[in-house]
Amino acid sequence: MLTTANTTSANQKGVLKFQFKTFEKLPVKIWDDSKEASVHVARSIALAIRQKQQDGEKIVLGLATGSSPIKVYQELVRLHREDGLSFQNVVTFNLDEYYPMEKDAEQSYWRFMHEHLFDHVDIPKENIHIPDGTIEMEKVQSYCDWYEKQIKLAGGLDIQILGIGRTGHIGFNEPGSWESSTTRMVRLDGLTRQDAIKDFIKEENVPTRAITMGIASIMQARTIYLLAWGQHKSDIVREAVEGPVTASVPSSFLQKHNNIRVVLDRAAAEQLTRNTAPWLCGMCNWTEELACQAVVWVSQRTGKPILKLTNEDYNEHGLSELMLEENGAYDLNIKIFNRLQHTISGWPGGKGHADDSTRPERAIPAKKRCIIFSPHPDDDVISMGGTFMRLVDQGHEVHVAYQTSGNIAVHDHDAQRFAEFLLEYGKGQGFLNDEIEKSYKKVIKFLKNKKLGEPDIQEVRSIKGLIRRGEARAGARYSGVGDNQIHFLDMPFYETGKVRKGDIGEADIQIVADLIEKVQPHQVYAAGDLADPHGTHRVCLDAIFAAFDRLKEKKWMKDCWLWLYRGAWHEFPIHEIDMAVPMSPDQVMRKQRAIFMHQSQKDSAPFPGEDAREFYQRAKERNKATAETYRKLGLAEYEAMEAFARWKFDWQ
Ligand code: F6R
Repeated sequence: MLTTANTTSANQKGVLKFQFKTFEKLPVKIWDDSKEASVHVARSIALAIRQKQQDGEKIVLGLATGSSPIKVYQELVRLHREDGLSFQNVVTFNLDEYYPMEKDAEQSYWRFMHEHLFDHVDIPKENIHIPDGTIEMEKVQSYCDWYEKQIKLAGGLDIQILGIGRTGHIGFNEPGSWESSTTRMVRLDGLTRQDAIKDFIKEENVPTRAITMGIASIMQARTIYLLAWGQHKSDIVREAVEGPVTASVPSSFLQKHNNIRVVLDRAAAEQLTRNTAPWLCGMCNWTEELACQAVVWVSQRTGKPILKLTNEDYNEHGLSELMLEENGAYDLNIKIFNRLQHTISGWPGGKGHADDSTRPERAIPAKKRCIIFSPHPDDDVISMGGTFMRLVDQGHEVHVAYQTSGNIAVHDHDAQRFAEFLLEYGKGQGFLNDEIEKSYKKVIKFLKNKKLGEPDIQEVRSIKGLIRRGEARAGARYSGVGDNQIHFLDMPFYETGKVRKGDIGEADIQIVADLIEKVQPHQVYAAGDLADPHGTHRVCLDAIFAAFDRLKEKKWMKDCWLWLYRGAWHEFPIHEIDMAVPMSPDQVMRKQRAIFMHQSQKDSAPFPGEDAREFYQRAKERNKATAETYRKLGLAEYEAMEAFARWKFDWQ
C-alpha cells in the first residue's frame, strides 16, 4: 500500500537501522520530489553567486538544457524577482547545442536557455556562451577550440549543472567518449535521438550531430551537480553511481571527481542497491512489505517459487537477519505467499456480500460508483481495459474521465483528412456557408504549409481533439459505458499546442474536483505513472491529489479509495501491488479490441517514444509478464494480469 509522497516503499526513510556498506561510488542525495531538490540546488547556486559578489568577483556557471534543470532555473528566476538575486557577476557556458541549429528554432538550446533563464534575469548578454549551431562545418573545430579557451579565460567553471541521458551521456558525450575529450562535434546516439523525438515530432527531423563540451571540460569544474528525476533514469543512474568507470557509461567518469553531488528524486533512485536490496547495505527495520520485497527478490534470484525457498537460500543472499526475525523460511514463505495470493482478485469493485477480510476491495456497497481517470484518451483501455470491463460487467456505475484532449498526438495528415471530409460532405449536402467553408479551407491550407515544430492553430487543435474524442467514446462504449458516464475534461494545462505543456493551474484542479464531487465515487482509478516527472501523466495525477485534498473534509470522501495503475511501460514491483486483476484469453482479446478503437494511435503513433511497439502490443506483453511473474513465484497461472496499488491518504 502506498502511503508516502512516492510509490517506492523500500527507499522510504527509516528502512535502514544501521548502514555498514554502500555500493555507491558517488555522493548521492535523494529528495522526495524534483521540485524540492531543484529548489535546494538553486539556493546553493544563489549562495555561491552572492558570495562571489561580496568578494567583487565573477562566478562561472556551466549550464545544461533538457527537462532536468528546468525547476532549478525557475527557482533562480524567482530568487531574482522576489529576493533581489542579481546575475550581473554571472558568466555562463552551456554544455551543448544541436548541429546544425538556428538560434531561434523551436528546438534550439539557445532558445531554451533564453526562455527558461536568461530573458528573466539581469545577466549581461556578453556573459552568455552557448555553442553555436550555425557555424560552418569547416570552422567547427576552431570554434570548439575557441569555446574551450573562453572557459579557461573566464577562470574555469565554478559550478557545473548536469543532466544524464538514458545512454549515460553527460553533455552530448555519448558512450565511447574519451575521458580526455574537450569541446567538439559529436554524433548523437540512436537512443538520444529517440528521446528527442518529442521535441522534433519525427525521427528524421532530429539532428544527427551536436557540439558538446567534453568529459575533460566538465571534469575541470570545481563543483558539479548531476540531476536526475523519474523512473526512466533509474537504471542508468545505478550504472553511473554503482557501476565501474567506463567509457560506455560516460557519466561514470564523474566517480573520479572530488566535489560532485548526485541529486535524485525517489523515482530516479529506485534502482540503487539501497532501495532494491537494502538488506545488503545494513540492518533493516523489517516491515511486512520489506519482507515481501526480500522474499520476491530471493525467489527471482534463485529461480525458485516462494514455497520452495529454504533457510540456506535466504542466508546465502544476505538475509540471515530476516530469518532470525521471522522464525525461519517456512513461516515466512507461507506468510508472504498468502499476502500475494490475497492481492489476486477478479472482483476489482469488491465481491458483494462475500467475506472481504482477505480481499483487496470492500464488499459493501455491493454496487460502487467508480471514476476511471485517463490522462490521455486511451490510457483507460491500454492500462486497465480488462478491469474497466469487469467493473462494468459486475454492475458498478463506471464513469470514465479523459483528462486531456490528447490533440498533440494526432498526425497532421489525419487532421487534414477529416477537414477535407467535412468540406466535401458540407458541399455535397449543400449546407456550407462562406464562413464554414473559409474555416475548413484555412485548416487545410495551414496543414499543407505547416513548418517543423510550428504550433497548431486553434482550429486544427480542435479537429485533432475531436478525432481523439470520437475514438475515446468508441473505446468506452465498447467497454460498456453509457454516453452520459463519459466525461471530457480538456484540462487547460495541456492546451499549449506544443509538446511542452503548461504548469498545473487552479482551473485544472477544479475541473477534476468538480467531477469527483458530482459522482461521489467509492473508487477512483488514476494513472500513477511517475516515469516522467514533467509528463502529462504526472500533472494529471497531481491534479487528482490536489482535488482529493480540496474535498477531504466531505464525509463521503472517507470511503473514496484511490487506486493507481501504471501506464503502458512499467509495472509496479510485485511487493507494491495491492490488487492484481487476472484476465482470461478472451478478456485479453476484448481489451485489445477496445485499444483498436484508437485508430489515430495505430501503426505509428506520432510520439512512440523509446518503444516502437503498438500500444496494444505493449499492454498485452506487459499484462502477460505480470501474470508470468506471479506464476514463477509459485502462484496460480493466468493468461494476463492488470495491477494496482492503493494510495492511502493519512486522513482516511
Ligand atoms: C543538455 C544535455 C544533456 C541532458 C540529458 C538529460 O544540455 O547536455 O546531457 O542533460 O540528455 O536530458 P533531460 O534532462 O531532458 O532528461
